[in-house]
Amino acid sequence: MTSEKDFIFSPIPLTTKQGSFEWSAPSNIALVKYWGKKENQIPANPSISFTLNNCKTITKLDFIQKANHDTFSFDLLFEGNPKEDFRPKIQKFLERIAIYCPYLKNYHLKIDTKNTFPHSSGIASSASGMAALSMNIMSLEKELNPAVTDEFFYQKASFLARLGSGSACRSVKGTVVVWGNHNEFEGSSDLFGVPFTDEIHPIFNNYQDTILLVDKGEKQVSSTVGHDLMHNHPFAEQRFLQAHHNLSAIKTVLGNGDVNRFIEIVESEALTLHAMMMTSMPYFILMKPNTLEIINKIWKFRKETNIPVCFTLDAGANVHILYPENVIVETLQFIKDELLGYCQNGQYLCDAIGFGSQKL
Ligand code: PMV
Repeated sequence: MTSEKDFIFSPIPLTTKQGSFEWSAPSNIALVKYWGKKENQIPANPSISFTLNNCKTITKLDFIQKANHDTFSFDLLFEGNPKEDFRPKIQKFLERIAIYCPYLKNYHLKIDTKNTFPHSSGIASSASGMAALSMNIMSLEKELNPAVTDEFFYQKASFLARLGSGSACRSVKGTVVVWGNHNEFEGSSDLFGVPFTDEIHPIFNNYQDTILLVDKGEKQVSSTVGHDLMHNHPFAEQRFLQAHHNLSAIKTVLGNGDVNRFIEIVESEALTLHAMMMTSMPYFILMKPNTLEIINKIWKFRKETNIPVCFTLDAGANVHILYPENVIVETLQFIKDELLGYCQNGQYLCDAIGFGSQKL
């Protein structure tokens, strides 16, 4: 089994003086949620997600060798302009991965990043952002050590991304990604995400995710704080067990295309995530009244039409609407007619299942 030690870079002469890479990495939406972690970003339970296609971060990394190798040195730009508020997060990330990528201290880095989704849309850019940066770092590592295999490249990229933001490890490779040890998923690991390799039923091909932007404001409680509140949470153990069961169940569903069962698992997972927030101490609510209005409208629409549309939520008020490609016309009409009124400035994003990060 792969361990943390396997990702430590063995010292070799650093022959590369300077260079530049650019990668895009997508956001992802969890079907079975990760909520609660142990030390070093080890998840308390396994999770599984759809990789998205359109909501992406694009990051360019320029690097040039420097004389001093004791500290990190980097410029951080967002859409080409210096972005001081992102620096502490990147500094912390670099420090966390220093033992795995010691060569980073030999270079001055220029990290220029942008998102395809509107800034402050309430869409978390940490998953796609940390994944895109990790891909670039692995490109540098491969340049330094061409013996790096493709498998190692993606595993270590996911491993690094995880250390930046847990769910980021699911934004590296594959359309459906599992993260966290689960005995029914061969090769699954707490250390990195792995593509789900079983055959997936065609109903999930190009599965749609329309993201309704209900509240674009700053979250009252960060996911870091939320994860921490799962320590000593009265329902934690039961929840972690449930996630294991739901992963087994969704594995079957992804194979047999039972969309009704898919809906049950996915909606229950979303509500359980928020139930954990509401029952932690201190408790908090990230859903907004319009989140609930939308959920109720989806249930009504589904009941009336039998169209297999469902919702999921991440750690916020926005609603992800998931549905098969063959009901796109009716569903988008429903969304426009009945749901956009609940969105901030009528804003929404159309996305679909994607393939992972890409070198540009
Ligand atoms: O990666 P983090 O620490 O931002 O946690 C994300 C947690 C959820 O989005 C709520 C669930 C998930 O599995 O993505």
